[in-house]
Amino acid sequence: MANEQLTHNQGDLSKEFFAREYWRSHGALRLMRRYTPFWVRRTLRAPYLFALDGMDLVLGKRDGLVPPRYLNYADSGGFTKVGKEFLDYYKEKCGLQPQHRVLDMGCGIGRMAVPLTGYLTSGSYEGFDIVPSGVRWCQNNVTRKFPRFKFQIADIYNKQYNPRGRYQPGEYKFPFADAEFDLVILISVFTHMLPSDMDHYLSEISRVLRPGGKCLITYFMVDEEARRRVAAGTAAVPFDHKLDGCWTSDPVTPETAVGYDPANVVPVYQKHSLSPDGIHFGAWSGRSNYLSYQDIVIATKV
Ligand SMILES: C[S@@+](CC[C@H](N)C(=O)[O-])C[C@H]1O[C@@H](n2cnc3c(N)ncnc32)[C@H](O)[C@@H]1O
Repeated sequence: MANEQLTHNQGDLSKEFFAREYWRSHGALRLMRRYTPFWVRRTLRAPYLFALDGMDLVLGKRDGLVPPRYLNYADSGGFTKVGKEFLDYYKEKCGLQPQHRVLDMGCGIGRMAVPLTGYLTSGSYEGFDIVPSGVRWCQNNVTRKFPRFKFQIADIYNKQYNPRGRYQPGEYKFPFADAEFDLVILISVFTHMLPSDMDHYLSEISRVLRPGGKCLITYFMVDEEARRRVAAGTAAVPFDHKLDGCWTSDPVTPETAVGYDPANVVPVYQKHSLSPDGIHFGAWSGRSNYLSYQDIVIATKV
C-alpha cells in the first residue's frame, strides 16, 4: 500500500454505540455468544423482537424498506444510518455512478441495497448471502419494488451463520461472468471469514471486476496499535486468540469475529491484481481518528 494509514477527522460514532459493541464482546454476552449457537440466540430473541415489531406496526413506524427486527440478524449499528454512511463512501471514494453495476457479497438483510435503490437509477445490483431468511426478505421487498436489484442464496458453510452449508467458501465460484461489475462491496463479511476463504473470495472478486473497477471491503485490522489496545482492554472486540493467519475473539466459533494483520492481507490483494489505496482505520480498536466503525480497504482492479 502506498500510504499505510489514511488519516481522517474524528468520525461521529456515538460513545453509546462504542460502549454497546464493547459490552457485546466483553461482558456476559460474550460467554452467551460463545456457548450458545447463533440460531439458538436468534430463536430466544424472536418473541421479544416480534413484540417490538408488532408495536411498530400498530404505531405505523416501520418503513416498508426496513426489515422487521426479528429478521435483522446482521445489523447492530443502525440500518438506515449505516446504509447512508456507506453510500457516501461508494460515491465519494469509489466513484460510483448511477449507471454502474454493483455486487454486494454477504448482503445480509439489504442494509447496503436499500440506499442504493435511490442512486443506481439506470444501473443494477446483485446481492448474495448464505442466510436464506434475509435474502428472501430482500427478494420480497426490495426486488419487488426495484426489479434491477436481485438477490440470491448461496448455500455456503460458515460456522456462525450457516453451519449446515453445503459448499465450502474456498470452492465457491461466484455465479457471475468475468469483468461484470464496476463495484464489489463486502461490509462486515471478511470479519466472519477465515484466511484461505478470504484469499479465494478475493480471487473471485478480481475476476468479476472490470479493469479499473473498485472493491470496498471492511475488516478488523489487528495491527500493532490495535494489538496494544486489545492488550489494554480498550478495544471493542477483544482479539485475544491467535489462529493461523488471523485473530479471533472466540476460539470455539472463530467466525464470530475474525481480525487480520494488514501485513498478511496486502500480499493477497497484490496476488489477485487488486491495488489497495491504504487502510481507512475505524473506531473499533479505540482509535480517536477514524472513518467508520470497522477498518476499510478500497482497492482498484489493475
Ligand atoms: C455482519 S453481517 C453483514 C451483512 C451486510 N453486509 C450488512 O452490512 O448489513 C455478515 C454477513 O456475511 C454473510 N456471510 C458469511 N460468510 C459468507 C460467505 N462465505 N459468503 C457470503 N456471505 C457470507 C453472513 O451470512 C452475514 O449476512
